[in-house]
Amino acid sequence: MNTTTASTLPEQEQPLSPEMEEWDEFLEGRYKEGKSKEEFRVYDKTATPGVAEFYRLNHENQTLDYVLAKEAEYFTLQKGQKTVWEAAEFLNQLVDDSDPDTDLTQIEHLLQTSEAIRRDGHPRWMVLTGFLHDLGKCLCLYGEPQWGVVGDTFPVGCAWSEDIVFPEYFANNPDRNRPELQTKYGIYEPNCGLENVHMSFGHDGYIAKVMNPYLRDEALYMLQFHSFYPWHRHGAYEHLCTDKDRAMKEWVLKFNQYDLYSKGHSKPNLTELKPYYDDLFAEFLPPTIAW
Ligand SMILES: [Fe+2]
Ligand SMILES: [Fe+2]
Repeated sequence: MNTTTASTLPEQEQPLSPEMEEWDEFLEGRYKEGKSKEEFRVYDKTATPGVAEFYRLNHENQTLDYVLAKEAEYFTLQKGQKTVWEAAEFLNQLVDDSDPDTDLTQIEHLLQTSEAIRRDGHPRWMVLTGFLHDLGKCLCLYGEPQWGVVGDTFPVGCAWSEDIVFPEYFANNPDRNRPELQTKYGIYEPNCGLENVHMSFGHDGYIAKVMNPYLRDEALYMLQFHSFYPWHRHGAYEHLCTDKDRAMKEWVLKFNQYDLYSKGHSKPNLTELKPYYDDLFAEFLPPTIAW
């Protein structure tokens, strides 16, 4: 057992299949240093079969209709009320069985991210955002497939950018056969704003929806778009963006450093940190939240 939460873990631990960890590690490697487009492609070719298969499933199944159905199912927040700690402990059921001694639990990844933000003297709302950012991965525990929870995100309902990782896997996406969805703007107006764009479904959009009433725009953009690498790393989809989106992108980029690169630090001590986070949650959030 590698959890340090104060209350008991749910009885049934669900193993986190190696692919989910692999996907995060793949992202970390992909964005390690200033790589050219060509270097990204070369790196992608070295992806493990598990990662490649993951992207294939993601790109083939994330259609506009799929996304609209998942938004209807989850964005209405019908999964019950939970405190942030309860949500974190729920997420912590996802454990990596491949190497329990060295791999971080989900809560430890959240705390490493938020603690790194805190160490650098960023505002408290950003520390909070660091802690919250991956809580949407509980979608896995609601039964969603991993390709529908993690990985890069991208707009659906318009042409796919070549800057999306493994763009060749869109060949078998059924939206390929809907010409109205294959134009530059698809179902959108020029510069309609990302808030009006349907993103491929995953943990980012879900946690942003859960936190929407409570956090400032900067934080909501960090939550909603932290996996939108084609946009924040590659500059794609500018034609859908407003000036607000462009201003917010700076915050997403600031946040992304902590998500990708805080893993080397020592394991956070939850018992020591808990009082700080109790105060932080109370400052911004009601006692329980609709999920
Ligand atoms: Fe994430
Ligand atoms: Fe993360």
